Amino acid sequence: MKLRHILYRYVLFTAFLFLQLVRLSHSFPSTQGKNPPYLTSDVEDVSGKSFDYIVVGGGTAGCPLAATLSERFSVLVIERGGSPYGNPMVSDKIYYGFPLLQSDEFSSVAQSFVSKDGVKNHRGRVLGGSSAINGGIYSRASYDFVKTVGWDEELVKEAYEWVESNIVFKPELTIWQSVVEFGLLEAGILPYNGFSMEHIEGTKISGTLFDEYGIRHTSADLLETGNSENIIVLLNATVKNIIFHVNGKGNESIVRGVRFIKSDGSTSQTYEAYLNQPENSSSRGDVILSAGALGSPQILLLSGIGPEKHLKNFGIPPVLNLKGVGKEMKDNPGIALLVDTKPLYRFPDTPQVAGITKDMKFIVEGGIIPISFNATRMPIAIKLAFPESKGTLELNSTDPRQNPAVEFHYLEKEKDLEECTKMAQLLSKIARSQSVVLFLGKEPQDNLMSSQDELKNFCKKNVRTYYHYHGGSTVGSVVDDDYKVYGIKGLRVIDGSTFLESPGTNPMATLLMLGRYQGIKIVRERENTTVSSSPPPL
Ligand SMILES: Cc1cc2nc3c(=O)[nH]c(=O)nc-3n(C[C@H](O)[C@H](O)[C@H](O)COP(=O)(O)OP(=O)(O)OC[C@H]3O[C@@H](n4cnc5c(N)ncnc54)[C@H](O)[C@@H]3O)c2cc1C
Ligand SMILES: *[C@@H]1O[C@H](CO)[C@@H](O)[C@H](O)[C@H]1NC(C)=O
Ligand SMILES: *[C@@H]1O[C@H](CO)[C@@H](O)[C@H](O)[C@H]1NC(C)=O
Ligand SMILES: *[C@@H]1O[C@H](CO)[C@@H](O)[C@H](O)[C@H]1NC(C)=O
Ligand SMILES: *[C@@H]1O[C@H](CO)[C@@H](O)[C@H](O)[C@H]1NC(C)=O
Ligand SMILES: *[C@@H]1O[C@H](CO)[C@@H](O)[C@H](O)[C@H]1NC(C)=O
Ligand SMILES: *[C@@H]1O[C@H](CO)[C@@H](O)[C@H](O)[C@H]1NC(C)=O
Repeated sequence: MKLRHILYRYVLFTAFLFLQLVRLSHSFPSTQGKNPPYLTSDVEDVSGKSFDYIVVGGGTAGCPLAATLSERFSVLVIERGGSPYGNPMVSDKIYYGFPLLQSDEFSSVAQSFVSKDGVKNHRGRVLGGSSAINGGIYSRASYDFVKTVGWDEELVKEAYEWVESNIVFKPELTIWQSVVEFGLLEAGILPYNGFSMEHIEGTKISGTLFDEYGIRHTSADLLETGNSENIIVLLNATVKNIIFHVNGKGNESIVRGVRFIKSDGSTSQTYEAYLNQPENSSSRGDVILSAGALGSPQILLLSGIGPEKHLKNFGIPPVLNLKGVGKEMKDNPGIALLVDTKPLYRFPDTPQVAGITKDMKFIVEGGIIPISFNATRMPIAIKLAFPESKGTLELNSTDPRQNPAVEFHYLEKEKDLEECTKMAQLLSKIARSQSVVLFLGKEPQDNLMSSQDELKNFCKKNVRTYYHYHGGSTVGSVVDDDYKVYGIKGLRVIDGSTFLESPGTNPMATLLMLGRYQGIKIVRERENTTVSSSPPPL
């Protein structure tokens, strides 16, 4: 190695150490005074019982929502997966990415699916939802995004801060993350913003769900902040559909409860849980779907809410011909460049540093991910923040445990394809930065500085997911501004399926926030109505 290279490495390493020193120490979320809620897998614990609210899906948005509602109301959470506690694949950072290698059809914590576009993808199937299997990157939405969506800015801030005080940490950068950081800066993604939870142009270090010991705090931990006497969490039970009152006034359907099955498929028996029926119907609670961008539209369809023609194909009695269900499915197209020459075993490393380009068009991150149990690779990946292409979700089966069929039409719009060629060039620039080249001791093998046509072909062939898919029951077409399903009484959807656009940045922070935010809004809305008189479930 040439002397210049050795010197450069030395400078890089010294700079790394220096940055580690100057990063201020961080006050960690406290875990005192919290009570875990009652978790059960016994369907008899809840079968035939009534609750003020039923939250379907104990995922990223569902858990903060349930915790918040429990401050005043009885809440049942029904989650199809098992408990995240005591599972090192979920909790330990050194196993980051491993759940994605181990997926089976009906029980693994990560459920894999392949979109009709042919792109492999995953979603969480465990209490904590996708926050239990993801990279843990925590980054708030931009002010512009919050304004455009029309949320109450003060309440948004309050809700983010509540999430952060409970489960978000400031990361210690690994050497590889520091190399990526320098690479992004060299490629001109400026300014350098240091550690920031905000979504701002330039290179920054994001928050993380992993604490200083490398332990993940999923959204399930937020349940402990609620009133544990008011929450019951049913695990390993999959909601099949919604139950309606037979005697709705006019043609408006009123929700009575939900029907569910055991997730292990051991029996075909169905069970039911209901909403409390206070005398004053204006103080009735809701069934709230928080089953994610695939799960919530799927449950709506299985309940007869959706395009009538499609429901007919599956013999589902139509309840409401709501055409928007399953529409506006989007996934941010991404591409990745493997900067290492060959797989080796290194510790998996969650992305911590984000490059956010001008006008917040592209987001770049790099990590170390396992590709088998003894080998990892080092991709640097980039996503398009606001794609135009969109697709649809339809049922593929009436078994709620199976994936619906989803198609995203990646890069179908010319604009997306053109942006993708720019993303490829930027990736190549980062991979060729002095920092990355010297750290790896070699030049990258790609030839991405080629013609526009070649770049387009590269994009089409290599497009992948950044796991930020969203839509299917979007605000304005399926739910109103209060996230209530149009034309149905007692039904809301609160999760990533409501996003017309993902918040540009990594969406988890905003979904955690949304659960808290909507929970507070519901509690406030009912502040002056009589709370149902029924006792809590336990
Ligand atoms: C591998 C991966 C890595 C990611 N990395 C990041 C990252 O680092 N940072 C970031 O910000 N975002 C990341 N994301 C995206 C982010 O995690 C998701 O957008 C977000 O967690 C989705 O939240 P949600 O509440 O909409 O759905 P989820 O969190 O997926 O929750 C849905 C829940 O509903 C349950 N459910 C579904 N159907 C039913 C049913 N019929 N009955 C009962 N329960 C049901 C599921 O089991 C699940 O627990 C990643 C995603 C993945 C998959
Ligand atoms: C719940 O399901 C998970 C896997 O999905 C399994 O490991 C666990 O044993 C189940 N729990 C019970 C009580 O059935
Ligand atoms: C019933 O639904 C139709 C359209 O779906 C609507 O035009 C009509 O006003 C509704 N009637 C009542 C009584 O709500
Ligand atoms: C992983 O294990 C397989 C088989 O056990 C072996 O062939 C391969 O070389 C190993 N890979 C690494 C990177 O060690
Ligand atoms: C639909 O289900 C069939 C049969 O299980 C399966 O072969 C097919 O891949 C599924 N289609 C999609 C798009 O998931
Ligand atoms: C509830 O009542 C109080 C006092 O009567 C009032 O100030 C407040 O605005 C009401 N809240 C809602 C959500 O209606
Ligand atoms: C029912 O609740 C609404 C909203 O709080 C209230 O205006 C109404 O007076 C109540 N009706 C009865 C019969 O209590």
